[in-house]
Amino acid sequence: MPAIVEFYDLVSLLQNSSGKHFVLCDENTYKDCYKTFCKLIGLNIQSIVIKEGESQKKLDTCEYVWQTLLDEQAGRDALLINLGGGVVSDIGGFVAATYKRGIKYVNVPTSLLAMVDAATGGKTGVNFRGLKNIIGVIQPPELVIIHTPFLKTLPNQHLKNGFAEMLKHALLEGSEELHLLIDNVDTHAFYNDDIILKSLAIKEAIVAQDPNEIGLRKILNLGHTIGHAIEFAAQKNANNILHGEAVALGLIAALKLSVTKLNFNQNEADIIIDFIRKHYPTPTWIKLSHKAILNAVLQDKKNNDQQIKMVLLKAIGQPVYDVSCTLQEIENVLLEI
Ligand SMILES: NC(=O)c1ccc[n+]([C@@H]2O[C@H](COP(=O)([O-])OP(=O)(O)OC[C@H]3O[C@@H](n4cnc5c(N)ncnc54)[C@H](O)[C@@H]3O)[C@@H](O)[C@H]2O)c1
Ligand SMILES: [Zn+2]
Repeated sequence: MPAIVEFYDLVSLLQNSSGKHFVLCDENTYKDCYKTFCKLIGLNIQSIVIKEGESQKKLDTCEYVWQTLLDEQAGRDALLINLGGGVVSDIGGFVAATYKRGIKYVNVPTSLLAMVDAATGGKTGVNFRGLKNIIGVIQPPELVIIHTPFLKTLPNQHLKNGFAEMLKHALLEGSEELHLLIDNVDTHAFYNDDIILKSLAIKEAIVAQDPNEIGLRKILNLGHTIGHAIEFAAQKNANNILHGEAVALGLIAALKLSVTKLNFNQNEADIIIDFIRKHYPTPTWIKLSHKAILNAVLQDKKNNDQQIKMVLLKAIGQPVYDVSCTLQEIENVLLEI
């Protein structure tokens, strides 16, 4: 696993590497984070800037970065530093893992979602022909640096986006972690270094046990089967929803199914669901889209035949993966949401 480290570790990595160094940013992180980053490490490193947003997570963008590296005569000893959210680290990780059969890369996440989730675990890649993350490799970064002051310029909606993944980690880990989050949300728990590092550590511990997602790592998909389907249906109907907002709704569905299928405590589920609903109201278009969402659930790459395998919870901190659910059961919870 990559070490979660301080900037001086990056400085020593840079000093000990003979090749050229580059910082990949998107237009926002170039504007809001790049100068601070250079100041923090006391060096000016050449930037490569791409447009912002999920729509840039495509092979064309990789080509642009590969081409820039070639133009700059980056050798196999080059180092790419990904300064940005999950879009930048997914693209940059994939570009680095494939350029000249692999150069080293470092993630410096600047969004909450990237800090607690996307920057670690080694999954990299891009979307292709409308399918999310379908081209990519698993290649861990050399280092990950968490610097929470970057969050000051992150739009509020994106803080909520990352917070949904923190909720997921806490549900997987235990009651104490969950209460630390939900009891402190009004004091902006997401700015708290300790809570962010704890959330990240939960993911890291799971990935360390199963880096290639053969078994246990699947639990990180809690809330994502229905969450991804909601994102997919939104895209098709030109509605907007952020990944974390869709995952939050997916968590509600998973909790409801956990109550009926695995005897998850009803009162606890109600408290958590109320909390999620308060912070992530269901958009009105979802009421009209439950058939489209169901279709997307069926197309999910993780399903065989008509069996829908989901991650559910026996209790907080007790996830079970590969629980078979019927389409009817899923339709019922979608109608309740
Ligand atoms: N590889 C993984 O394991 C993994 C895990 C979860 C998510 N992801 C991927 O991550 C992506 C989502 O990541 P995201 O939510 O960070 O999206 P993002 O990278 O698009 O960032 C969200 C927005 O915030 C801006 N931004 C980022 N940091 C900023 C800062 N400090 N100040 C101002 N603006 C800032 C970005 O420019 C962008 O507009 C998705 O593509 C998803 O598939 C990957
Ligand atoms: Zn996610």
